[in-house]
Amino acid sequence: MTYEAFLSRAAAGMRQSPIRQMGILAAQRTDIISFAPGYPGPDSFAWDAYRAIADRVLAARHRDVLQYGPTRGYAPLLEALQAVSAARSIDVGTDQMMVTTGSQQGLDLVARTLLDPGDVALVELPSYTGAIWAFRNHQATLVGVRQAADGIDLVDLDRALYQARLEGRRVKFLYVVPNFQNPTGMLLGLGKRRALVEWAARERVLIVEDDPYGALFFDDAAHERDTRPIKADDDEGWVIYLSSLSKTLAPAFRTAWVAAPAPLVARMEVAKQAMDLCTGNFDQRLLFEAIRDGVLERSAPDLREYYRAKRTVMEQALRGELGDTLTWSPPRGGFFLWASLPPPVQSVDLLPVAIAQGVIFVAGHAFFVDGGGGAFLRLAFSLPTHDQIREGVRRLAAAVKEAVGQPASRQPSREPVPEG
Ligand SMILES: Cc1ncc(COP(=O)(O)O)c(C=O)c1O
Repeated sequence: MTYEAFLSRAAAGMRQSPIRQMGILAAQRTDIISFAPGYPGPDSFAWDAYRAIADRVLAARHRDVLQYGPTRGYAPLLEALQAVSAARSIDVGTDQMMVTTGSQQGLDLVARTLLDPGDVALVELPSYTGAIWAFRNHQATLVGVRQAADGIDLVDLDRALYQARLEGRRVKFLYVVPNFQNPTGMLLGLGKRRALVEWAARERVLIVEDDPYGALFFDDAAHERDTRPIKADDDEGWVIYLSSLSKTLAPAFRTAWVAAPAPLVARMEVAKQAMDLCTGNFDQRLLFEAIRDGVLERSAPDLREYYRAKRTVMEQALRGELGDTLTWSPPRGGFFLWASLPPPVQSVDLLPVAIAQGVIFVAGHAFFVDGGGGAFLRLAFSLPTHDQIREGVRRLAAAVKEAVGQPASRQPSREPVPEG
Protein backbone atom coordinates (compact mmCIF):
# COMPACT_ATOMS: atom_id res chain seq x y z
CA MET A 1 0.00 0.00 0.00
CA THR A 2 1.27 3.46 -0.82
CA TYR A 3 -0.02 6.56 0.85
CA GLU A 4 0.89 9.17 -1.76
CA ALA A 5 -2.76 9.84 -2.59
CA PHE A 6 -3.43 10.68 1.05
CA LEU A 7 -0.64 13.18 1.42
CA SER A 8 -1.25 16.91 1.45
CA ARG A 9 0.54 18.83 -1.29
CA ALA A 10 2.75 20.37 1.39
CA ALA A 11 3.69 16.96 2.89
CA ALA A 12 4.35 15.47 -0.54
CA GLY A 13 6.89 18.24 -1.15
CA MET A 14 8.70 17.84 2.18
CA ARG A 15 12.28 16.60 2.04
CA GLN A 16 14.69 15.10 4.56
CA SER A 17 17.48 17.50 5.51
CA PRO A 18 20.75 16.48 3.82
CA ILE A 19 22.48 17.09 7.15
CA ARG A 20 20.23 14.55 8.92
CA GLN A 21 20.95 12.11 6.07
CA MET A 22 24.66 12.46 6.82
CA GLY A 23 23.87 11.91 10.50
CA ILE A 24 22.18 8.59 9.70
CA LEU A 25 25.22 7.51 7.73
CA ALA A 26 27.57 8.50 10.55
CA ALA A 27 25.46 6.55 13.06
CA GLN A 28 25.62 3.43 10.88
CA ARG A 29 29.39 3.59 10.35
CA THR A 30 31.29 3.94 13.62
CA ASP A 31 34.59 4.21 11.74
CA ILE A 32 33.46 7.42 10.05
CA ILE A 33 34.64 10.82 11.22
CA SER A 34 31.89 13.34 10.72
CA PHE A 35 32.37 16.98 9.88
CA ALA A 36 28.68 17.06 8.88
CA PRO A 37 26.45 18.12 11.78
CA GLY A 38 26.66 21.44 13.60
CA TYR A 39 26.53 19.74 16.99
CA PRO A 40 28.23 21.19 20.06
CA GLY A 41 31.04 19.18 21.62
CA PRO A 42 29.66 17.05 24.50
CA ASP A 43 32.62 17.96 26.73
CA SER A 44 31.41 21.57 26.56
CA PHE A 45 28.22 20.73 28.47
CA ALA A 46 27.78 21.67 32.15
CA TRP A 47 26.95 18.08 33.14
CA ASP A 48 27.45 18.49 36.87
CA ALA A 49 25.46 21.71 37.08
CA TYR A 50 22.48 20.11 35.34
CA ARG A 51 22.67 17.03 37.55
CA ALA A 52 22.67 19.16 40.70
CA ILE A 53 19.83 21.38 39.44
CA ALA A 54 17.73 18.38 38.35
CA ASP A 55 18.22 16.78 41.77
CA ARG A 56 17.25 19.97 43.52
CA VAL A 57 14.21 20.68 41.35
CA LEU A 58 12.84 17.13 41.50
CA ALA A 59 13.47 16.79 45.22
CA ALA A 60 11.39 19.91 45.82
CA ARG A 61 8.44 18.30 43.96
CA HIS A 62 7.18 21.70 42.93
CA ARG A 63 3.72 21.25 41.45
CA ASP A 64 4.58 22.96 38.12
CA VAL A 65 7.83 21.25 37.30
CA LEU A 66 6.47 18.15 35.56
CA GLN A 67 3.26 19.84 34.48
CA TYR A 68 2.09 21.52 31.24
CA GLY A 69 3.13 25.16 31.24
CA PRO A 70 2.11 28.38 29.50
CA THR A 71 2.58 28.39 25.71
CA ARG A 72 4.72 31.56 25.90
CA GLY A 73 7.18 29.82 28.16
CA TYR A 74 8.09 29.52 31.84
CA ALA A 75 7.84 33.13 33.05
CA PRO A 76 11.11 33.23 35.04
CA LEU A 77 12.97 31.79 32.03
CA LEU A 78 11.38 34.41 29.76
CA GLU A 79 12.65 37.08 32.14
CA ALA A 80 16.11 35.53 32.17
CA LEU A 81 16.11 35.48 28.35
CA GLN A 82 14.95 39.07 28.34
CA ALA A 83 18.10 39.91 30.31
CA VAL A 84 20.25 37.84 27.90
CA SER A 85 18.67 39.78 25.01
CA ALA A 86 19.24 43.10 26.82
CA ALA A 87 22.94 42.22 27.19
CA ARG A 88 22.94 41.98 23.38
CA SER A 89 21.38 45.49 23.24
CA ILE A 90 17.93 44.12 22.38
CA ASP A 91 15.38 45.99 24.43
CA VAL A 92 12.13 43.98 24.49
CA GLY A 93 9.36 43.34 27.00
CA THR A 94 8.27 39.79 27.73
CA ASP A 95 5.09 40.56 25.72
CA GLN A 96 7.44 40.60 22.72
CA MET A 97 8.99 37.24 23.54
CA MET A 98 8.18 33.55 23.42
CA VAL A 99 10.13 30.42 24.24
CA THR A 100 10.20 27.92 21.37
CA THR A 101 11.12 24.25 21.04
CA GLY A 102 14.49 25.09 19.50
CA SER A 103 14.94 27.91 17.02
CA GLN A 104 13.92 25.36 14.44
CA GLN A 105 10.38 25.63 15.75
CA GLY A 106 10.74 29.41 15.69
CA LEU A 107 11.55 29.20 11.98
CA ASP A 108 8.54 26.98 11.37
CA LEU A 109 6.32 29.36 13.35
CA VAL A 110 7.59 32.30 11.30
CA ALA A 111 6.68 30.39 8.16
CA ARG A 112 3.27 29.36 9.52
CA THR A 113 2.32 32.86 10.53
CA LEU A 114 3.75 34.81 7.59
CA LEU A 115 3.83 32.70 4.46
CA ASP A 116 1.05 31.75 2.09
CA PRO A 117 1.90 29.35 -0.74
CA GLY A 118 3.88 31.26 -3.36
CA ASP A 119 4.91 34.12 -1.06
CA VAL A 120 8.57 35.02 -1.36
CA ALA A 121 11.15 34.62 1.39
CA LEU A 122 14.51 36.12 0.47
CA VAL A 123 17.43 34.00 1.65
CA GLU A 124 21.18 34.30 1.30
CA LEU A 125 23.16 32.21 -1.18
CA PRO A 126 24.05 30.08 0.73
CA SER A 127 21.64 29.80 3.66
CA TYR A 128 20.87 27.45 6.59
CA THR A 129 19.15 24.32 5.27
CA GLY A 130 16.80 24.05 8.27
CA ALA A 131 15.37 27.46 7.40
CA ILE A 132 15.18 26.67 3.71
CA TRP A 133 13.11 23.57 4.44
CA ALA A 134 10.95 25.21 7.11
CA PHE A 135 9.97 27.85 4.55
CA ARG A 136 9.63 25.38 1.67
CA ASN A 137 7.38 23.14 3.74
CA HIS A 138 4.93 26.02 3.77
CA GLN A 139 5.20 26.24 0.00
CA ALA A 140 7.07 29.53 -0.05
CA THR A 141 9.04 30.62 -3.08
CA LEU A 142 12.64 31.07 -2.01
CA VAL A 143 14.67 33.69 -3.82
CA GLY A 144 18.44 33.76 -3.32
CA VAL A 145 20.55 36.84 -2.66
CA ARG A 146 24.29 36.77 -3.25
CA GLN A 147 26.85 37.38 -0.51
CA ALA A 148 29.92 39.62 -0.49
CA ALA A 149 32.92 39.12 1.82
CA ASP A 150 31.13 41.00 4.64
CA GLY A 151 27.75 39.34 4.24
CA ILE A 152 24.69 39.85 2.13
CA ASP A 153 25.17 41.90 -1.06
CA LEU A 154 22.82 44.86 -0.68
CA VAL A 155 22.75 45.61 -4.42
CA ASP A 156 21.73 42.05 -5.18
CA LEU A 157 19.16 42.27 -2.40
CA ASP A 158 17.44 45.15 -4.18
CA ARG A 159 17.68 43.30 -7.50
CA ALA A 160 16.05 40.20 -6.02
CA LEU A 161 13.31 42.23 -4.34
CA TYR A 162 12.42 44.27 -7.42
CA GLN A 163 12.55 41.22 -9.68
CA ALA A 164 10.14 39.34 -7.40
CA ARG A 165 7.81 42.33 -7.24
CA LEU A 166 7.98 42.75 -11.00
CA GLU A 167 6.74 39.14 -11.25
CA GLY A 168 3.79 40.11 -9.07
CA ARG A 169 4.97 38.18 -6.00
CA ARG A 170 4.57 39.22 -2.39
CA VAL A 171 7.89 39.42 -0.59
CA LYS A 172 7.28 38.80 3.10
CA PHE A 173 10.72 38.71 4.66
CA LEU A 174 14.46 38.43 4.34
CA TYR A 175 16.06 35.62 6.36
CA VAL A 176 19.62 36.26 7.59
CA VAL A 177 22.10 34.67 9.99
CA PRO A 178 24.38 37.64 10.68
CA ASN A 179 26.75 36.02 13.19
CA PHE A 180 29.06 33.22 12.00
CA GLN A 181 26.53 32.10 9.47
CA ASN A 182 25.60 28.49 8.96
CA PRO A 183 27.14 27.38 6.57
CA THR A 184 29.81 30.00 5.71
CA GLY A 185 30.87 31.17 9.18
CA MET A 186 30.50 34.69 7.78
CA LEU A 187 30.09 37.76 9.98
CA LEU A 188 27.82 40.47 8.60
CA GLY A 189 29.46 43.91 8.68
CA LEU A 190 28.07 46.41 11.20
CA GLY A 191 27.30 49.02 8.51
CA LYS A 192 25.29 46.45 6.59
CA ARG A 193 23.27 45.58 9.69
CA ARG A 194 22.15 49.17 10.05
CA ALA A 195 21.53 49.40 6.30
CA LEU A 196 19.27 46.33 6.52
CA VAL A 197 17.04 47.92 9.17
CA GLU A 198 16.68 50.99 6.93
CA TRP A 199 16.03 48.76 3.93
CA ALA A 200 13.29 46.87 5.78
CA ALA A 201 11.52 50.10 6.76
CA ARG A 202 11.93 51.58 3.27
CA GLU A 203 10.78 48.49 1.41
CA ARG A 204 8.28 47.34 4.04
CA VAL A 205 9.75 43.85 4.21
CA LEU A 206 10.32 42.04 7.53
CA ILE A 207 13.72 40.69 8.54
CA VAL A 208 14.01 37.30 10.22
CA GLU A 209 17.30 37.39 12.11
CA ASP A 210 18.53 33.97 13.27
CA ASP A 211 21.32 34.25 15.84
CA PRO A 212 22.34 30.99 17.53
CA TYR A 213 26.11 31.62 17.28
CA GLY A 214 26.56 35.30 18.24
CA ALA A 215 28.08 34.52 21.66
CA LEU A 216 30.70 32.26 20.08
CA PHE A 217 33.11 34.83 18.62
CA PHE A 218 36.80 33.95 18.58
CA ASP A 219 38.91 36.43 20.52
CA ASP A 220 41.72 36.40 17.95
CA ALA A 221 39.42 37.40 15.08
CA ALA A 222 36.27 39.14 16.31
CA HIS A 223 34.92 41.16 19.17
CA GLU A 224 31.55 41.15 20.91
CA ARG A 225 30.70 44.54 19.36
CA ASP A 226 31.00 42.93 15.88
CA THR A 227 28.05 40.68 16.75
CA ARG A 228 25.53 43.42 17.60
CA PRO A 229 22.17 42.02 16.45
CA ILE A 230 20.21 43.76 13.69
CA LYS A 231 17.31 43.73 16.15
CA ALA A 232 19.26 46.05 18.48
CA ASP A 233 18.65 48.96 16.06
CA ASP A 234 15.09 48.04 15.16
CA ASP A 235 13.09 50.93 16.61
CA GLU A 236 10.06 50.43 14.38
CA GLY A 237 9.49 46.67 14.69
CA TRP A 238 10.69 45.22 11.39
CA VAL A 239 12.87 42.48 12.84
CA ILE A 240 11.90 39.05 14.18
CA TYR A 241 14.87 37.87 16.24
CA LEU A 242 15.51 34.20 17.01
CA SER A 243 18.15 32.86 19.33
CA SER A 244 18.80 29.55 21.00
CA LEU A 245 20.45 27.92 24.00
CA SER A 246 21.35 24.87 21.86
CA LYS A 247 24.88 25.95 21.01
CA THR A 248 25.78 27.57 24.32
CA LEU A 249 24.08 25.31 26.91
CA ALA A 250 22.87 22.13 25.20
CA PRO A 251 20.58 21.23 22.28
CA ALA A 252 18.86 18.39 24.18
CA PHE A 253 16.78 20.93 26.10
CA ARG A 254 15.31 22.18 22.81
CA THR A 255 15.00 25.64 24.27
CA ALA A 256 15.21 28.81 22.22
CA TRP A 257 13.39 32.11 22.03
CA VAL A 258 11.90 34.64 19.69
CA ALA A 259 11.85 38.42 20.23
CA ALA A 260 9.50 40.19 17.83
CA PRO A 261 6.72 42.79 17.69
CA ALA A 262 3.99 41.83 20.19
CA PRO A 263 1.21 41.29 17.59
CA LEU A 264 3.40 38.83 15.67
CA VAL A 265 4.39 36.96 18.83
CA ALA A 266 0.70 36.69 19.73
CA ARG A 267 0.03 35.03 16.34
CA MET A 268 2.98 32.71 16.76
CA GLU A 269 1.69 31.75 20.19
CA VAL A 270 -1.65 30.67 18.72
CA ALA A 271 0.16 28.66 16.03
CA LYS A 272 2.39 27.05 18.65
CA GLN A 273 -0.58 25.99 20.76
CA ALA A 274 -1.65 23.67 17.96
CA MET A 275 1.85 22.26 17.60
CA ASP A 276 3.00 21.36 21.10
CA LEU A 277 0.88 23.33 23.61
CA CYS A 278 4.01 24.32 25.49
CA THR A 279 7.76 23.94 25.45
CA GLY A 280 9.07 21.27 27.82
CA ASN A 281 8.50 22.68 31.27
CA PHE A 282 11.17 20.64 33.00
CA ASP A 283 13.80 21.69 30.47
CA GLN A 284 12.86 25.33 30.88
CA ARG A 285 13.04 25.07 34.64
CA LEU A 286 16.51 23.48 34.47
CA LEU A 287 17.75 26.15 32.11
CA PHE A 288 16.26 28.96 34.13
CA GLU A 289 18.09 27.73 37.21
CA ALA A 290 21.29 27.22 35.20
CA ILE A 291 21.16 30.79 33.87
CA ARG A 292 20.30 32.16 37.32
CA ASP A 293 23.24 30.22 38.80
CA GLY A 294 25.54 31.88 36.24
CA VAL A 295 26.26 28.79 34.07
CA LEU A 296 25.64 30.63 30.79
CA GLU A 297 27.68 33.65 31.75
CA ARG A 298 30.57 31.69 33.27
CA SER A 299 30.85 29.19 30.42
CA ALA A 300 30.86 31.74 27.56
CA PRO A 301 34.61 32.56 27.60
CA ASP A 302 35.46 28.84 27.89
CA LEU A 303 33.18 27.97 24.99
CA ARG A 304 34.76 30.62 22.80
CA GLU A 305 38.19 29.23 23.59
CA TYR A 306 36.99 25.62 23.14
CA TYR A 307 35.69 26.24 19.60
CA ARG A 308 38.49 28.63 18.68
CA ALA A 309 41.01 25.86 19.48
CA LYS A 310 39.08 23.36 17.32
CA ARG A 311 38.97 25.89 14.48
CA THR A 312 42.73 26.34 14.72
CA VAL A 313 43.36 22.59 14.70
CA MET A 314 41.19 22.22 11.59
CA GLU A 315 42.82 25.11 9.74
CA GLN A 316 46.33 23.89 10.58
CA ALA A 317 45.47 20.34 9.52
CA LEU A 318 43.92 21.52 6.24
CA ARG A 319 46.92 23.70 5.42
CA GLY A 320 49.34 20.94 6.38
CA GLU A 321 47.57 18.24 4.36
CA LEU A 322 46.29 20.19 1.37
CA GLY A 323 48.33 23.39 1.11
CA ASP A 324 46.25 25.77 -0.97
CA THR A 325 44.19 23.12 -2.77
CA LEU A 326 41.21 24.08 -0.62
CA THR A 327 40.51 27.75 0.03
CA TRP A 328 38.41 29.35 2.77
CA SER A 329 37.94 32.50 4.82
CA PRO A 330 39.14 31.91 8.38
CA PRO A 331 36.08 31.43 10.63
CA ARG A 332 35.89 34.25 13.20
CA GLY A 333 33.39 32.40 15.39
CA GLY A 334 30.77 29.66 15.37
CA PHE A 335 31.01 26.04 14.25
CA PHE A 336 31.76 26.02 10.52
CA LEU A 337 34.53 26.24 7.96
CA TRP A 338 33.27 26.78 4.42
CA ALA A 339 35.81 25.51 1.94
CA SER A 340 36.01 25.84 -1.81
CA LEU A 341 37.34 23.12 -4.10
CA PRO A 342 39.49 23.82 -7.15
CA PRO A 343 37.54 23.62 -10.44
CA PRO A 344 36.19 21.42 -11.85
CA VAL A 345 35.79 19.28 -8.70
CA GLN A 346 32.25 19.23 -7.30
CA SER A 347 31.63 18.46 -3.64
CA VAL A 348 28.83 15.97 -4.46
CA ASP A 349 31.36 13.97 -6.48
CA LEU A 350 33.91 14.25 -3.69
CA LEU A 351 31.45 12.96 -1.08
CA PRO A 352 31.41 9.26 -2.08
CA VAL A 353 35.22 9.29 -2.33
CA ALA A 354 35.38 10.86 1.14
CA ILE A 355 32.93 8.31 2.56
CA ALA A 356 35.11 5.53 1.17
CA GLN A 357 38.04 7.16 3.03
CA GLY A 358 35.96 7.34 6.23
CA VAL A 359 35.02 11.01 6.53
CA ILE A 360 31.86 13.00 5.77
CA PHE A 361 30.88 16.63 5.31
CA VAL A 362 27.89 18.44 3.86
CA ALA A 363 28.09 19.23 0.14
CA GLY A 364 27.59 22.91 -0.62
CA HIS A 365 24.59 22.63 -2.92
CA ALA A 366 22.36 21.76 0.08
CA PHE A 367 22.58 25.40 1.17
CA PHE A 368 21.77 27.05 -2.17
CA VAL A 369 18.22 27.65 -3.36
CA ASP A 370 19.36 28.37 -6.93
CA GLY A 371 21.07 25.04 -7.65
CA GLY A 372 24.57 26.52 -7.12
CA GLY A 373 27.24 25.82 -4.53
CA GLY A 374 28.78 22.78 -6.24
CA ALA A 375 32.35 23.81 -5.44
CA PHE A 376 31.79 24.17 -1.68
CA LEU A 377 31.84 21.91 1.33
CA ARG A 378 30.80 22.71 4.87
CA LEU A 379 33.14 21.34 7.49
CA ALA A 380 31.83 21.55 11.06
CA PHE A 381 34.70 21.50 13.55
CA SER A 382 32.45 21.76 16.62
CA LEU A 383 31.80 18.09 17.46
CA PRO A 384 34.96 16.07 16.76
CA THR A 385 37.92 16.00 19.15
CA HIS A 386 41.26 17.50 18.11
CA ASP A 387 42.56 14.03 17.19
CA GLN A 388 39.44 13.26 15.20
CA ILE A 389 39.76 16.59 13.37
CA ARG A 390 43.39 15.82 12.42
CA GLU A 391 42.57 12.28 11.30
CA GLY A 392 39.40 13.40 9.51
CA VAL A 393 41.36 16.03 7.61
CA ARG A 394 43.95 13.39 6.64
CA ARG A 395 41.13 11.28 5.19
CA LEU A 396 39.55 14.27 3.51
CA ALA A 397 42.90 15.23 1.99
CA ALA A 398 43.28 11.74 0.53
CA ALA A 399 39.79 12.05 -0.99
CA VAL A 400 40.43 15.53 -2.36
CA LYS A 401 43.73 14.45 -3.91
CA GLU A 402 41.99 11.49 -5.52
CA ALA A 403 39.23 13.74 -6.83
CA VAL A 404 41.63 16.31 -8.29
CA GLY A 405 43.75 13.57 -9.75
CA GLN A 406 46.83 13.92 -7.51
CA PRO A 407 48.36 10.86 -5.89
CA ALA A 408 47.56 10.71 -2.15
CA SER A 409 50.81 10.96 -0.13
CA ARG A 410 49.89 8.12 2.22
CA GLN A 411 46.96 5.95 3.06
CA PRO A 412 45.08 7.43 6.01
CA SER A 413 44.30 5.16 8.93
CA ARG A 414 40.78 3.68 8.90
CA GLU A 415 40.83 2.81 12.58
CA PRO A 416 38.06 4.46 14.58
CA VAL A 417 39.47 7.45 16.44
CA PRO A 418 38.26 7.33 20.03
CA GLU A 419 36.04 10.14 21.23
CA GLY A 420 37.04 12.31 24.14
C1 LIG B 1 21.40 29.04 11.78
C2 LIG B 1 20.65 28.06 12.62
N1 LIG B 1 19.41 28.32 12.99
C3 LIG B 1 18.69 27.49 13.75
C4 LIG B 1 19.23 26.29 14.17
C5 LIG B 1 18.38 25.37 15.00
O1 LIG B 1 18.76 25.43 16.33
P1 LIG B 1 17.89 24.81 17.52
O2 LIG B 1 18.71 23.72 18.10
O3 LIG B 1 17.69 25.95 18.47
O4 LIG B 1 16.60 24.32 16.95
C6 LIG B 1 20.53 25.95 13.81
C7 LIG B 1 21.11 24.65 14.21
O5 LIG B 1 22.08 24.18 13.69
C8 LIG B 1 21.27 26.88 13.02
O6 LIG B 1 22.53 26.62 12.65
